[in-house]
Amino acid sequence: MKHLIAPSVLSADFANLQRDVEMINSSKADWFHVDIMDGVFVPNISFGFPVMEAIKKHAAKPLDVHLMIVNPDQYIEQFVAAGADMITVHYEACVHLNKTIQAIHKAGAKACVALNPHTPVELLTDILPMLDMVLIMSVNPGFGGQQFIPNTLLKIRRLKGMAALVNPGLLIEVDGGVSINNLSDLLAAGADVFVAGNAIFGAESPLEMIAAMKLESAS
Ligand code: DX5
Ligand code: ZN
Repeated sequence: MKHLIAPSVLSADFANLQRDVEMINSSKADWFHVDIMDGVFVPNISFGFPVMEAIKKHAAKPLDVHLMIVNPDQYIEQFVAAGADMITVHYEACVHLNKTIQAIHKAGAKACVALNPHTPVELLTDILPMLDMVLIMSVNPGFGGQQFIPNTLLKIRRLKGMAALVNPGLLIEVDGGVSINNLSDLLAAGADVFVAGNAIFGAESPLEMIAAMKLESAS
């Protein structure tokens, strides 16, 4: 499978949101990555339902919704109603993860679990067969534009090995400090989906950067 690019809307210009959503529509990107932060699970607040619904109204590609919030169970149906195609919850925020994943599937979305940089992939051993995707955080969540944590590569390799045994169709997504400079190493480690905020929206031509990232191959 060709790798997927998911531009992070967090780095868009919110005063020109429709323009930026249409730029992604017309690009070679595959998904919209939508970061929801509650100021409790992470030390930042991003945006909520009204903005997400505004994105959905114009988006011609799936919405990959990354919930950096405590108590995600409380809002799963509302996020699906607001247009989420894929919902990511944090391992660190879910006491009853099995139940949360069931609820996401029941609501009609794909289910993904995110791991903070310090959380070992081995903790997912017993939930892996239920998941559509795992998101490996390559920065501490909360802000765009941070530096990539190199240990991520080892985590992706280990997760790829685990998935080969019990869930070979699992997608591995990487989020934080991803750019054209580390994409080929991440591909070689086994990542399938690449979230990028600053690398795309900070580029001179976001359209060309997306196309270039899509053309990369494993190192
Ligand atoms: C960070 C978010 C990321 C962020 C990525 O907490 O989950 O999706 O927007 O931004 P960059 O690519 O700039 O690190
Ligand atoms: Zn994210």
